[in-house]
Amino acid sequence: MCGIVGYIGKENCVNFLVEGLKRLEYRGYDSSGICVLNEKKLSCYKKTGKIVNMESTLPSEVIGKSGIGHTRWATHGEVTDANAHPHLSANGKFAIVHNGIIENYQVLREKLIADGFEFKSTSDSEVIAMLLEKNFSGNFEKAFYQTLSLLEGTYGIVAVFADEPDYLMVGRKGSPLVLGIGDGCTFVASDVSAFLGHTKQAVYLEDNEICKIYADSFITTDFTLEKKQKEIATIEWDAIELDKKDYQHFMLKEIFEQPESVARAYAGRILADIGTAKLGGLNMEPRELAAVDNIGIIACGTSYHAGLVGSYLLEELARLQTVVHIASEIRYKNPILRRNSLQFAVSQSGETIDTLLAMREFQRKGGKVLGVCNVVGSSIARESDGGVYVHSGPEVAVASTKAFTSQLTVFLLFSILMGRMRDMSQYRGVQLIEDLQQIPQKMESILKKSEQIAEIAKKYAGLNNFLFLGRGISYPVVMEAALKLKEVSYVHSEGYAAGEIKHGPIALVDKNTPVVFVVPQDHLHDKMVSNIQEVKARGGRLIAVCNEGDEKIRSLVEDVIEVPKTEPLFSPLLTILPLQLMSYYVAKELGCDIDQPRNLAKSVTVE
Ligand code: G6P
Repeated sequence: MCGIVGYIGKENCVNFLVEGLKRLEYRGYDSSGICVLNEKKLSCYKKTGKIVNMESTLPSEVIGKSGIGHTRWATHGEVTDANAHPHLSANGKFAIVHNGIIENYQVLREKLIADGFEFKSTSDSEVIAMLLEKNFSGNFEKAFYQTLSLLEGTYGIVAVFADEPDYLMVGRKGSPLVLGIGDGCTFVASDVSAFLGHTKQAVYLEDNEICKIYADSFITTDFTLEKKQKEIATIEWDAIELDKKDYQHFMLKEIFEQPESVARAYAGRILADIGTAKLGGLNMEPRELAAVDNIGIIACGTSYHAGLVGSYLLEELARLQTVVHIASEIRYKNPILRRNSLQFAVSQSGETIDTLLAMREFQRKGGKVLGVCNVVGSSIARESDGGVYVHSGPEVAVASTKAFTSQLTVFLLFSILMGRMRDMSQYRGVQLIEDLQQIPQKMESILKKSEQIAEIAKKYAGLNNFLFLGRGISYPVVMEAALKLKEVSYVHSEGYAAGEIKHGPIALVDKNTPVVFVVPQDHLHDKMVSNIQEVKARGGRLIAVCNEGDEKIRSLVEDVIEVPKTEPLFSPLLTILPLQLMSYYVAKELGCDIDQPRNLAKSVTVE
């Protein structure tokens, strides 16, 4: 949450700051601001609303060879111009941007007020700027160290001081920050997408690191001033992938990218002739893997749903008991770590704070946690004990789509790998791999139905409550479908196990309730038919996602979206696609801000 950018170099940085913030807008978009330094004078511009609002307030001649910027997702203090970042110190000489939460800000603020400092905002972050001024006794760097030592909570901070134009100070504890090494300039940002158009050389900061950045160099230390050696990494993503191309929204573009992104997730990881997978990043010897007899999965949001699908795959294909945890719950539950257990932390961004902290809790207990992340070099990817990148490419829309199917693909590979180490025959493994390789082509054929799906969405878009029902491996699919719809269209929707509707949700059904059934031809098909009939008898509007040629289902429901047949355990990779598209088209019909839905942020870095 909240996006940070900073620049120091030879060029005027205003364009970079504004464009960089636009790249980070997915992290928060209730207000934004920039502050630039020119001839030892700081100029600050802040505005509520999207970044374009702030941009429109900038005078035509703003110049700065260094500067900082911020896009906010409010936690402390309402959404106002004054609460937007950057925050200035009382004398206007220090400016900061902050991502995270300063937990002891009330105490610090009261002390500062007693010392005569006047606050302009109700944000927790403003204390940082005031503390810099208070702690300053001739040395900015020293004041920065002292200030950070007083802060409790989480932060990524970039600070600029008007009288020291040659460097910026950066500090990280719990909120991501990465440096971009340019040609005669240095960038800093919450993630690489902000500066990807300028450089592909990045330095990831770790928690409890402080960095002094100059235009052509940087010095990193820990909080005890001990110098740290940092590696420069090369970013694999291209700036072009961050463009919408001809699509109206990133969400649509990302839905349509799935045939490719799924293929990328398994590329180079299958051994087709022996029917298994190889996942080099696990950092585990076969003997160590063979000893694993139970799995835990930790995640939030869409990644949690991917984990739930993963649990069906692992139990069915590898006969490994699997428990899936909502990260924000498990981390306060004193988790039980069973012997011979292996955990996965699943996160598109790799920065979700609850997942990261839950992962650390398992590690503290001696557990081994593998990351399933999309963003290379993200906190979870770096701190986990190994893992698998899903390689979806950058996902920009707040509602996650392509990362979900890539995460499923990784769980499939891991389940086949573990299955083959246990009871699965080579013959079955070879078949599964063949089925997996057909998925991208089958996805293409579903995407060709987007117009039909748009029509269906249009028909039901005015209705207020949607129910999504499925059984077995389709149960997490309907949970994900309901999440997608509420995220982007603000329409109330619930994803339920079809067998549970008689225990409550069927009371919701009336002639204005669209009920969407996900009913692939698997061993639960007949049970689903009974559920459909129960809902039909109560007058619901029935829609089904079923396999091609399923006349039984067609005869029972009002609208049908057909998907190709596949190995039943792989059906989530196909059945979710029409439902992602349906959410998209309902939201479009309702005129919603699809890529940046209200109140949401893509990367949730506060608890
Ligand atoms: C936010 C995003 C969701 C995402 C969830 C978990 O809520 O809006 O799209 O599923 O965080 O994010 P992660 O990056 O950990 O997968």
